[in-house]
Amino acid sequence: MRHILSCDQFSRKDLMELFALTDEMRANTNQFSNSLQGKIVATIFYEPSTRTRLSFEAAILRLGGNIISTENAKEMSSAIKGESLLDTIRVVDGYCDAIVLRHFDSKAAADAAAVSSVPIINAGSGSGEHPTQSLLDAYTIYKYKKNLDGLSIVVMGDLLFGRTVHSLVKLLTLFENVTIYGLSREVLALPDEYVTYLKQKEVSYISCRSFDEIPCDVDVIYQTRTQTERFENTDLEVEEFIIDQSVMRKFSPQTILMHPLPRRNEISPAVDQDKRAVFFQQSHYGMYVRMSLLHNILAGK
Ligand code: ASP
Ligand code: CP
Repeated sequence: MRHILSCDQFSRKDLMELFALTDEMRANTNQFSNSLQGKIVATIFYEPSTRTRLSFEAAILRLGGNIISTENAKEMSSAIKGESLLDTIRVVDGYCDAIVLRHFDSKAAADAAAVSSVPIINAGSGSGEHPTQSLLDAYTIYKYKKNLDGLSIVVMGDLLFGRTVHSLVKLLTLFENVTIYGLSREVLALPDEYVTYLKQKEVSYISCRSFDEIPCDVDVIYQTRTQTERFENTDLEVEEFIIDQSVMRKFSPQTILMHPLPRRNEISPAVDQDKRAVFFQQSHYGMYVRMSLLHNILAGK
């Protein structure tokens, strides 16, 4: 059984195999239309989602599997009556072959995996990690840049609570000579735990407070939304770094602009027409990456 909990569980080989399978899924989608036949996957989301839940559900259906779901588990499952996450998992694992779980607690996926008899797929756990997002992020970079070795990337916005950044920086340690610039306000800087992880893996991490500190020929700009829903101090206002056309003009024609989405105002809609803005393509790739992942975990088992 293979749980998907954190990006520290993948090897470079795992990733390259997943990318190759994703290419195949995209090219010959119909060939995989029975790979989850007879399987049931539960999607349990205690936090809102558009992309992750719907792309997982589309992926399950495209692979010929079936879905059972609670999209607002915090209110619409028996959690509202006081049932614990672990009891819920112990019950639902008897109904299905895998559980895709999004939860507000950063330890939820690992806790669920400890009691589950079926694979748990972490679809975002609090301000911890969002590993399947990072798999699709890495696949997107691979498609646009052909290689992740030697990559330079700026991860920006909310590096403190942004779980997609936490997972992505871990994944990037699998490649050689990667340079990561972390652009954020001081209060939203990358937590020490991740800075230390990068240091241990000998990845260069440069903490920045202004666009002027980022080289114009950086390969990837990875913008993120300020995760205001996770602020304990609700009065805290953080001035955001906005990407608009004037910012994009500073960067090379080869620099791609990514975002896990949803966005608010941190990327101006005027930038959408820029060929370097690849965030919608990035989210489309997500369904195929998730098909590959589900195929690997469940097909033929
Ligand atoms: N959708 C991503 C997440 O759930 C990013 C975000 O919500 O800002 O982590
Ligand atoms: N990128 C992402 O996880 O989007 P959702 O929150 O809409 O699922």
